[in-house]
Amino acid sequence: MVDPLLVFQGWLQEAKDAGVREPTAMALATVDAQGAPAVRMVLLKHADERGFVFYTNLESDKGHQLATHARAELCFHWAHFERQVRVHGPVEPVTDAEADAYFASRAHKSKLGAWASQQSRPLESQGKLLKAVAGVALKHPLSVPRPPHWSGFRVVPDWIELWSAGEFRLHDRVRYTRDAEAEGGWAPRRLYP
Ligand SMILES: Cc1cc2nc3c(=O)[nH]c(=O)nc-3n(C[C@H](O)[C@H](O)[C@H](O)COP(=O)(O)O)c2cc1C
Repeated sequence: MVDPLLVFQGWLQEAKDAGVREPTAMALATVDAQGAPAVRMVLLKHADERGFVFYTNLESDKGHQLATHARAELCFHWAHFERQVRVHGPVEPVTDAEADAYFASRAHKSKLGAWASQQSRPLESQGKLLKAVAGVALKHPLSVPRPPHWSGFRVVPDWIELWSAGEFRLHDRVRYTRDAEAEGGWAPRRLYP
């Protein structure tokens, strides 16, 4: 029985080992209040049987979208290996303890940036952002606490789809849907690629 999470973790590790740039980069698709799609790249910071975690500004467009419509899809693509993984499901906030632990591991300047950036809102000039970073650095010269507007989300997969390229575009595409009755907890279904 194939466990799609284990396959994902294996593929990600292979991408890392091969020196792929930003191997954890994934497209995050959300839905806005009007029902329109929105997509952008984010970085995967953790994946286990509970789901796929990324961090962001809660007051960003994606933060508001996920607050009102808590579902998302993720899409990874490792061109070097001709592989794609899609992850689809509801989204939940990570705990404060998880967000604190990850924030603490970030570079000092990234921590300052998290305070200074009003992500997704209009910015008059890059200079204004740099000034805001300098202001935060003065306020928190040593340890930088996690901003209240900065945390993470976990996409809990309803399904995970593994795609790998085949010859003459006869690709291999299998969607694994979570199913408590199925062997291993995932029901596989092969789809036309
Ligand atoms: C490779 C890559 C990784 C990124 N990782 C993140 C991330 O982990 N978190 C984040 O908030 N934005 C990240 N961004 C920036 C987002 O793509 C986006 O510009 C920003 O989050 C604002 O999106 P929004 O206005 O839809 O909320 C990344 C961009 C790129 C190109």
